[in-house]
Amino acid sequence: METLYLDDANSAVVILDQSLLPGEVNYIPLTTLAQVWDAIKELRVRGAPAIGVTAAMGLYIHMKGYALGEPDKEAFLTEMARACAYLNTSRPTAVNLAWALTAMEEAVQGVESGAVSCFVEVLRATAEQIKADDIANNRLIGKHGAALLKPGMGILTHCNAGALATAGYGTALAPVYYAHEQGMKLRVYADETRPVLQGARLTAFELQAAGVDTTLICDNMAATVMANGWVDAVFVGCDRVAANGDTANKIGTHGVAILAKRFGIPFYVCAPFSTIDKATPTGADITIEERDPQEVTHLWYASPVAPQGVKVFNPSFDVTPSELIEAFVTERGLLKPPF
Ligand code: MRU
Repeated sequence: METLYLDDANSAVVILDQSLLPGEVNYIPLTTLAQVWDAIKELRVRGAPAIGVTAAMGLYIHMKGYALGEPDKEAFLTEMARACAYLNTSRPTAVNLAWALTAMEEAVQGVESGAVSCFVEVLRATAEQIKADDIANNRLIGKHGAALLKPGMGILTHCNAGALATAGYGTALAPVYYAHEQGMKLRVYADETRPVLQGARLTAFELQAAGVDTTLICDNMAATVMANGWVDAVFVGCDRVAANGDTANKIGTHGVAILAKRFGIPFYVCAPFSTIDKATPTGADITIEERDPQEVTHLWYASPVAPQGVKVFNPSFDVTPSELIEAFVTERGLLKPPF
């Protein structure tokens, strides 16, 4: 099941609408910049690497259309800068979004001469390359992470950092998939991940489809499964790693890391290098997205569960301090402290 792909013939980025999973498998074409922005904002496509690839492909589709008006190079580059700045506002925390858009801009700046049509071709090739690199890097993350696993181990994960969060294969789930492909039997505990339930809807869905032994738990059950001795390692993905190793990931990750430390369980963060942001010194410098209070009070309920008008705090991410992280699992191998 592909997370997203470029349908060049129809000038569309086609995404699997993750807001409908697991009940409905529905692919939707995004043909305008505004549709791409909305799809990212509304979590129809989500997960740090996946939104980077979607933005890159959406930028290409937009600039391909813009080039039909035969702009000169200056106008083309001005429009491209505007489009990048706009897409960048869709979600603030995952650095992969800005990273992918910067890669697109740099690719065009690298074109010394030629017509605007050359720029368009470079954008198409770069967007496809970002997607291909993401899948290849995830397989390497899988290989390096699987070396940490032994048959029968229990793994706990939070949110969804699987194939659906990326162009394919996932980051936190990549070691599980890699080991599973080698015939290794593992047990995975998936936190449901309040309030949007990426764990229940997406992680449980894709692990089950892959035939991995999966147990869904509510977020507040993690301490119990750890205390029971059922968890040997925690693997999570991430949205931005600061220069000192502090790591932003889905809200609740920090709590899982604290629990893992308490129970002596290694806590691994799986990330491609594109998620490491050396320009952000520490976790305190990471912008944390706050989302609609209705995700807490209304979403998934037939009628609102909370009293009308109650104050709601709904940060979408938290920052795990680097001292709680055993190692980063990257496409280049393990990064261990000091970070
Ligand atoms: O709000 P989401 O669903 O985009 O949050 C996703 C996560 O927090 C993932 O763990 C992270 O993006 C890593 S995806 C490989």
